[in-house]
Amino acid sequence: MGTGSNQMWGGRFAGGPSAVMREINASIPFDKALWRQDITASKAHVAMLAAQNIVSAEDARTIDGGLDTVAAEYEAQGVPEDWDLEDIHMTVEARLTELVGPVAGRLHTARSRNDQVATDFRLWVREALERADAGLEMLQRALVTRAGEHADSIMPGFTHLQTAQPVTLGHHLMAYYEMIRRDRSRLADARARMNESPLGSAALAGTGFPIDRDATAQALGFEGPTRNSLDAVSDRDFAMDYLMAAAQCSLHLSRLAEEFVIWASQPFGFVRLPDALSTGSSIMPQKKNPDAAELVRGHAGRMVGAVTALMMTMKGLPLAYSKDMQDDKPPVFEAASLIDLSIAAMTGMVADATFQTERMRQAAELGYATATDLADWLVTQADIPFREAHHITGAAVKLAEQRGIALDALSLEDLQAIDARLDARVFDALSVDASVAARASYGGTAPDQVRAQVARAMADLEMDT
Ligand code: ARG
Repeated sequence: MGTGSNQMWGGRFAGGPSAVMREINASIPFDKALWRQDITASKAHVAMLAAQNIVSAEDARTIDGGLDTVAAEYEAQGVPEDWDLEDIHMTVEARLTELVGPVAGRLHTARSRNDQVATDFRLWVREALERADAGLEMLQRALVTRAGEHADSIMPGFTHLQTAQPVTLGHHLMAYYEMIRRDRSRLADARARMNESPLGSAALAGTGFPIDRDATAQALGFEGPTRNSLDAVSDRDFAMDYLMAAAQCSLHLSRLAEEFVIWASQPFGFVRLPDALSTGSSIMPQKKNPDAAELVRGHAGRMVGAVTALMMTMKGLPLAYSKDMQDDKPPVFEAASLIDLSIAAMTGMVADATFQTERMRQAAELGYATATDLADWLVTQADIPFREAHHITGAAVKLAEQRGIALDALSLEDLQAIDARLDARVFDALSVDASVAARASYGGTAPDQVRAQVARAMADLEMDT
């Protein structure tokens, strides 16, 4: 080896890399996060090499023990960051060599860093995906629990953020349950698709050694080996699938977060946020700010940025591995910590928020939210076509608005002056309770329908009812 050249691949180099080359080349500052996966995959690889008589049982035992020692060191002291060793794969191997000597060099038989990084990263992403899924299940449990408590709590339902029709808080919360259910289904799809082992694809073309790819796939919990070595070493779909599912989930979380920001504002006053997830102001003592919710809302932007970053990295890359692909990790690592935090913050917020149900109910009663019920009454009780009923109702709302009173505070004489077909029974339809109870179509806001949604969700989650 030339002086100062790389100890792993420096055989044909006369001199070492420049300072810029060392720095731009190094992925160890971020890919050290893969150390557990790297060691796990190496242990599976060397066990297979021994089983196939590619290395001796004794050498394999030495290497395996050495890898355990490296793992224990990293666990206790962290991973050292030497730019000359470029990445986690070479860092582990270099330390293994220090520990067990030249026999360490047998570990890299029938393997390349290209299939190694593809394998390690898949293992890491699979874990991140499972962590997100477990977090989302907790969020679902919190949503279902609160929805069950509030199946009868009336609030205004909005379109255009204008009071539209009364709904129940339970119904509103279960809407988010459904979004999270789809997020979890996307994560499950992504997991099923990614669960193939690239190990043994080697640099790009496979290997001449008699390896057993099924064995390493099985040892690492994959369904089986990937089918095409060129694809396997250059595929990052698994990371994009995870990022896209997580980004879409973060959009849902940002919507829920925004609801809390709005609901916690003084003019709304629908919710008191948990102290544990709010902050005060250094100058305005009365303030309790929804910072956690605002950050969840903000993180969705960074999540979408991460998806975009990885997609742009992969765009136009010819087969097989290109060094651009080393840039795949920072956006995934960033997105994974953002989504984990966002899920945890929203779970705490849903579980511990104090809903101001009296205030919500008053807001529902204020905004002429039962105008549709008046129109529906005219259709069902007076056999008036809906369009005409809508017009009559509009006149009633206008009158109530002029007087500054609720719809059901108009007198029977007032109503009959608008349309003689209205009679006293209509007042039964104008309360917010009657309004939500009437919306008993499947998936509707009637408390019984909400309870049915909650019961089904609890069964899906195997929760005790
Ligand atoms: N540090 C590299 C990465 O993260 C590992 C693969 C390097 N392979 C290569 N042919 N230079 O992508």
